[in-house]
Amino acid sequence: MYNFSRKVNSEHSEDIKALMQHSTGKNLISFAGGMPNNDLFPVAEIDEIYTNLPREIKKIGFQYGPTSGYPPLRINLKKYLKKKGLPVRNNRILITTGSLQAISIITQEFVNEGDIILTENPSFVGALSVFETYRANVIGIPIDENGIIIEELKNTINRFSRKPKFLYLTPNFHNPAGIIYSLERKRQILEVLDGTGIILLEDDAYSDLYFLEKDKALTKPIKTITDYDVEIIYTGSFSKILGPGFRLGWMFASPTIFEKGENIKQALDACTSNFNQILANEFLAQNKLDDYLIFLRKEYLERKNLLQTALLKYMPKVVTWNEPKGGFYFWLKLPEILNSTEIFKKCIAKEVVFVTGRTFDPASKKDNRIRLAFSNMPKNQINKGVKIIAEVIVYFLEEHNSKTPNLKHINT
Ligand SMILES: Cc1ncc(COP(=O)(O)O)c(C=O)c1O
Repeated sequence: MYNFSRKVNSEHSEDIKALMQHSTGKNLISFAGGMPNNDLFPVAEIDEIYTNLPREIKKIGFQYGPTSGYPPLRINLKKYLKKKGLPVRNNRILITTGSLQAISIITQEFVNEGDIILTENPSFVGALSVFETYRANVIGIPIDENGIIIEELKNTINRFSRKPKFLYLTPNFHNPAGIIYSLERKRQILEVLDGTGIILLEDDAYSDLYFLEKDKALTKPIKTITDYDVEIIYTGSFSKILGPGFRLGWMFASPTIFEKGENIKQALDACTSNFNQILANEFLAQNKLDDYLIFLRKEYLERKNLLQTALLKYMPKVVTWNEPKGGFYFWLKLPEILNSTEIFKKCIAKEVVFVTGRTFDPASKKDNRIRLAFSNMPKNQINKGVKIIAEVIVYFLEEHNSKTPNLKHINT
């Protein structure tokens, strides 16, 4: 057999491969992939941008570029981040090949085998696979509808004599939980981290995708709050707002962290595709993003409403969820006696898929949750898909009730 390194053993990486396979099968009703809608991409705009590019710029697209990124994109991105209130004066932007690469770079910068990383439980499975690959000791901390639970965060930090390297959070339209952190919770996290030397890694892939203007204020990044002694590394991405095929993300950090990150990126892939950076830069520079986002918000809101209506119509009362204010996801909570992997197996036989709860548990255990992504759903399949999942859940509940007639009856 081959003598592989220890890096190849990531259970979460295997989960992602399975997830991507289930996301796109023919005839499947798929609530699985956390991906933008195939029919909403700005294909015509990008066609026009490329056609009208001067020949000299097109040539740059074919060439290697600076590791830190295509300079005009770094300038326009700075303006975009400034509009979010981020402190652009004291920080630098490193363009990365997707924000997953930024997470990977940051992990390589700080984490040695066995080091502690704190995450939410549940947490973005892509990040979990990175942390696992670098053999970190990943500790999941529970969340409620307003974000990570502060008491649990404090207790976890106090439990270890070794200082965690960083706390990884997705405060805006969490994947998979769909929640947005309250502004109070964002501040409380900084109060806990203040002066501890624990870095905050703030992953902000979804903040532009709020549904209603009144909720925009909630999307304020934690990194905009500068009155605490906490190092915050902020990451973002074009994946959910322009298309993951661009593979464009960024890391926004203080100069020393930026410089070390640039070195690591140099060794990884030298630079991110200039072609993609040029196209994304023009999209920003020609002010196309704002109008496109207005269009996307409306489309995703419609799908969210259809899913909410279908859930209310078909799900048994014992299944609960928070209605999301933005992003792509519903995170259903099932009674503890149910197991989403079992439900998944029955649903896939009926050509409906979703992602199981345990996929997002750092320990790959807790399994009484279901993630439904509405983003890439054809509107006319949402109702049918939810009806099938609900029927399977009711089947398992009835089976449980018939096996345990003397125990507490679960009301379907
Ligand atoms: C929370 C979160 N962060 C980061 C990413 C990765 O995005 P990218 O395509 O930029 O690597 C995703 C994609 O699903 C995500 O959900």
